[in-house]
Amino acid sequence: MTERCELLITNVHAATMDPSLPGAYGAVEDAAVAVTGGRIVWLGPRAELPDTAPDEVVDGEGQWLTPGLVDCHTHLVYGGHRASEFARRLGGESYEEVARAGGGILSTVRATRAASAEQLYRAAEPRLRALMAEGVTTVEIKSGYGLDLDTELKQLRAARRLAQHHPVNVVTTCLAAHALPPEYDGRADEYIDLVCEEILPAVSKEQLADAVDMFCESIAFSVDQCRRVIDCAQKLDLPIKVHAEQLSSSGATAMAAAAGALSADHIEYITEMDVAAMAESGTAAVLLPGAFYTLRETRVPPVDRLRAAGVPMALSTDLNPGSCPIASLRLMMNMGCNLFGLTPAEALAGVTRAAARALGLCCSRGVLRAGLRGDMVLWPMDTPDQLAYEVGALKPARIFLAGRTVGGRDVTAG
Ligand code: NIG
Ligand code: FE
Repeated sequence: MTERCELLITNVHAATMDPSLPGAYGAVEDAAVAVTGGRIVWLGPRAELPDTAPDEVVDGEGQWLTPGLVDCHTHLVYGGHRASEFARRLGGESYEEVARAGGGILSTVRATRAASAEQLYRAAEPRLRALMAEGVTTVEIKSGYGLDLDTELKQLRAARRLAQHHPVNVVTTCLAAHALPPEYDGRADEYIDLVCEEILPAVSKEQLADAVDMFCESIAFSVDQCRRVIDCAQKLDLPIKVHAEQLSSSGATAMAAAAGALSADHIEYITEMDVAAMAESGTAAVLLPGAFYTLRETRVPPVDRLRAAGVPMALSTDLNPGSCPIASLRLMMNMGCNLFGLTPAEALAGVTRAAARALGLCCSRGVLRAGLRGDMVLWPMDTPDQLAYEVGALKPARIFLAGRTVGGRDVTAG
């Protein structure tokens, strides 16, 4: 019987990233992919394609198809910039010194509070578009530059509005526990009361966040304070993510794993026990080489141990005005290999399968397989190794969101 489908892509090699298929990329050479209702309905060798009546056929011209890229950790909605702080750090001041002197995150908090909703939205758009042009089809966006009820809501609403007006999936995270706002100086526990009693309940009521994040560090919040935020998030049924062990070893990752967090992010300073705890709880590691590079850090996350323990390793931009003003997930793939020792296949898994896992979305995306979303990118390359190897010139030939063409080199977005 002839099966109808909306889209059929033929004459492609598929880097499925499906771990149940052989090879690091789960590659299916000379493949065909059928999509209907936004989901992949068939994927396999072209020679085995059942009799199909497609509404649209795309000839992949022997190029490679990957899952749509997932940037699982960004702070791309913010006001202002921190170019002067960049110059100060180049002059020898550390990230912590700048933060303790009232700069750093708090400088962006001032600019974000001062920006109108419209200004915030307009400033974020080119950052989002830069990611999308590289094949990002799902992006996470955090708040955390408001640190008061109105501005946290303003940031999250801007993120939701970006989703309404751009062909990309946006996942939002409330990071109200990012830094101590100046009006709470010396009263961190009272600020945590505000986060737990007012900000998170309001965010939840308006359904503005899909998860809750926190910065557990000496320049931010203690393990005990973060644990209170976790309790509150769990009462609101929101999953957890933690900025953990970025600058020092604090116990944040053990806390995150014990709470069943989706991910622990940064984790340069984790211990062997932390790795075991993450493996046990299924907490993904989110590696952020752009922040490591920008802050000129020297301690790398223990990739060998994470790999040996089977902890999923996601890679993300951490796009933000302080520690990583770099809107390129492809560059992070290259940095993940060159700075952290990932293989090119691990880098691609880091921005697809593992990144979806870090967002709790591994049942719907991050892999090319029947039943999952038709978010896919067609790349003009000979081998998927090129994605981590080349930066700048290798651009998507075509980007599909739920089976609909939304961008790419030769295509007008529609
Ligand atoms: O992930 N570590 C904390 N938060 C961000 C940086 C925020 C900033 O410097 O504005 C990060 O690196
Ligand atoms: Fe971050």
